[in-house]
Amino acid sequence: MKPVQVYLVYVLLSACVFRALSAKDAEPIQEDKNVLVLTESNFDRALKQHSQLLVHFYAPLSGDSLGSILEFAKAASELKEAESDVKLGGVDVTKQKELAKTLNVTAAPSLRLYLSGDQYNPVYCPVIFQHLESTNSDVEEGVVTVFYDVAAHVADLPFGVTQRKEIFNKYDITDDSVLLLRKSKTAEKIEMTSTTVKEDVIHFIRIHEMPLVTEYNGKTSSMILNSVVQNHLVLFIDKAEKGFRQTQRAFKSTAKEFRGKVLFVLIDTGEPRNGRIMEYFHVRKEDAPLVRMVNLTNNFQYQLPSDLLDAQTFTDFCESYLQGNAKLKLQSEPVPDGWDKQPVKELVGINFERVSFNHNKNVLILFYAPWSPECRALFPLLEELAEHFSENEDVVVARIDITANDVNLRMSDRYPTIKMFPAVYAERVVSYSGERKLEPIVEFVNAERERAKMDKAEEEIERKKYLDAQKAAAKEEL
Ligand SMILES: *[C@@H]1O[C@H](CO)[C@@H](O)[C@H](O)[C@H]1NC(C)=O
Ligand SMILES: *[C@@H]1O[C@H](CO)[C@@H](O)[C@H](O)[C@H]1NC(C)=O
Repeated sequence: MKPVQVYLVYVLLSACVFRALSAKDAEPIQEDKNVLVLTESNFDRALKQHSQLLVHFYAPLSGDSLGSILEFAKAASELKEAESDVKLGGVDVTKQKELAKTLNVTAAPSLRLYLSGDQYNPVYCPVIFQHLESTNSDVEEGVVTVFYDVAAHVADLPFGVTQRKEIFNKYDITDDSVLLLRKSKTAEKIEMTSTTVKEDVIHFIRIHEMPLVTEYNGKTSSMILNSVVQNHLVLFIDKAEKGFRQTQRAFKSTAKEFRGKVLFVLIDTGEPRNGRIMEYFHVRKEDAPLVRMVNLTNNFQYQLPSDLLDAQTFTDFCESYLQGNAKLKLQSEPVPDGWDKQPVKELVGINFERVSFNHNKNVLILFYAPWSPECRALFPLLEELAEHFSENEDVVVARIDITANDVNLRMSDRYPTIKMFPAVYAERVVSYSGERKLEPIVEFVNAERERAKMDKAEEEIERKKYLDAQKAAAKEEL
């Protein structure tokens, strides 16, 4: 999929915000028809002198450039009449090759707006730049400042400014607005008022630059992960499957309702390159079609509680999730036969909590990824540990494949990880960070056993007190 091309047109209705720059210090730069003639030797000076420097990069002999040179000169003289703060400059890229190279200019004609003397983060303007007509001075400076501020923060999109009536009419605009234009898509609009702040506009851009449904692939993945929207509804589906079109339509129509709240993502399970992402979600090809909600803030996942894949089901699911009513999905392999018959117990998602948080057992668990040689290398050590503690009823040694089983624990994503769950009532978890050798681990386990014994004795006293108080209260009531 090609990245979506986006550009912005900022529409200024009545504002003429530009005022004269008080001419001082530094020697003036040569101008040609009110356009600074910029060269390698004066470019830095121009940046210093003009906090808003709109630079036209052109190749004089090319047809495209010629048109834009004329338009640019016209704009320049009008800006001068209007006593504008924006200064125009031109760079002939056929002569100023070094300068163009330093500034990383790759196309001519092209336009960049350099703000506050920063040569590294110019605002890229599409060459549809329209000259600003000098009008009355009903200044809306705040709105403009906000727009420039947004432009300076959103480096990946080109920005532009226009006052053209035709454009206003075309997009049905009557007030100062920011338009987001996407190739072959309808334009999205946000009106700028005196209360609009930079964050509003950036949020608007980030939400609307994405299509309603974004298909996951190498190009879109970072856009998806960096989205300002933290709730993602993910549809896993084989695009070659019969019902695909219908499901996609339902998915897309729901997406519209939740724009800005839930990001709709599609993962093609028939695409071999999606193996990794499916593994991440523990979704197998044969599980599709399947829908998951993911909260990117805490990585919790919620599974659509239905086999129906229609718009109503999607809508209900999104609503119940947003209201905090969706059921958390806990992933588990089936409990293996004889999981507790071997010295090292095999845990899965379903039996994990019951085994680990047992107030009569000190449980040592290895969290491993089966494909990791570093993890597998610890299996014999685990056997040795189980053997060492085989006479101790209160010690359990276990392991769990953390790639196939979700546990409700805060885990670092590096495996192997060894944790101990001491025999206390409180759900205590202690991470082991020492050497992965028999002796230090045995020492660690024994120290934790001792600590647990003392803590549990105290817990028992507290529990007894509490129970006695309850009994006393009950008696009194009688
Ligand atoms: C030009 O590109 C290079 C390499 O990406 C970068 O280091 C340099 O800062 C850029 N220069 C400007 C003026 O953006
Ligand atoms: C997503 O997770 C964050 C952090 O735990 C939480 O504050 C937020 O409420 C969650 N969102 C929903 C819709 O459950």
